[in-house]
Amino acid sequence: VKRLTIPQLMAYKGQKKIASLTSYSAPFARLLDTHLDMILIGDSTAMVGYALPDTLSFTTDQIAAHVAAVVRSTRRACILADMPFGSYQGSLEQAFTNAAKMLSAGAAGVKLEGGAALAPVTQYLVERGVPVMAHVGLMPQYVNVMGGFKAQGMSEEAAERVFQDALAHERAGAFGLLLEGTAEGLARRITEAVSIPTIGIGASPHCDGQVLVTEDILGLSGGGIPRFAKQFGDVAAVIDQAVADYARSVRDGSFPTLDHCFGVKK
Ligand code: KIV
Ligand code: NA
Repeated sequence: VKRLTIPQLMAYKGQKKIASLTSYSAPFARLLDTHLDMILIGDSTAMVGYALPDTLSFTTDQIAAHVAAVVRSTRRACILADMPFGSYQGSLEQAFTNAAKMLSAGAAGVKLEGGAALAPVTQYLVERGVPVMAHVGLMPQYVNVMGGFKAQGMSEEAAERVFQDALAHERAGAFGLLLEGTAEGLARRITEAVSIPTIGIGASPHCDGQVLVTEDILGLSGGGIPRFAKQFGDVAAVIDQAVADYARSVRDGSFPTLDHCFGVKK
């Protein structure tokens, strides 16, 4: 099995949809790998995996450690690493140093949030061998600027700004665009206007692909799921049952038995 490359994913545009989910751990990545084209080690790991209130405090080294775990437990999917807050906005050199850590950990490319103002970062990285997916629209790292997680591009003027952000990153050499929480018509318009794949999350069925947070589709996010997500399975119920059975077996003495012990004469 050969791992899907970024140029191969780019060639999907107009041919077939890109199916993607997030993952940050070996067991999940192993299960996801055969089904997906791309696995994202998102900074949403901060919230989903570390119970933090937002993504802002997550670091490059933390994400890189999860990237390495996912790379070791997959063979087919293209692996994309999120650049966390504060790891690329400071300077071009800072962006390259931190992006290089993601590629050292085994990622094929990185994803970074930012409007047109961040296009020079995209260009700098791409020119130095780091494929970049630009994340525009709802950018969770801008939560303090937005005053909450809010859909973007709802007015004509706001939509035009996001449209120009997308075009700027395409011109800068991004291999793809992640469109999060954007008015449907806007995501469609961007998808039609650019020659690189768009991956939607709360965006439009017309995007070239889709990504969701794995815990959301499996019933593992421990609360409500966002309106743009859909629960495809109830893994929480399976785990709950298994752990209840285990705890009961320990308490009632039915586990362990001598079958689970060493040095027992048969
Ligand atoms: O961090 C993340 O999981 C993401 C996806 C939701 C796009 O950026
Ligand atoms: Na993210």
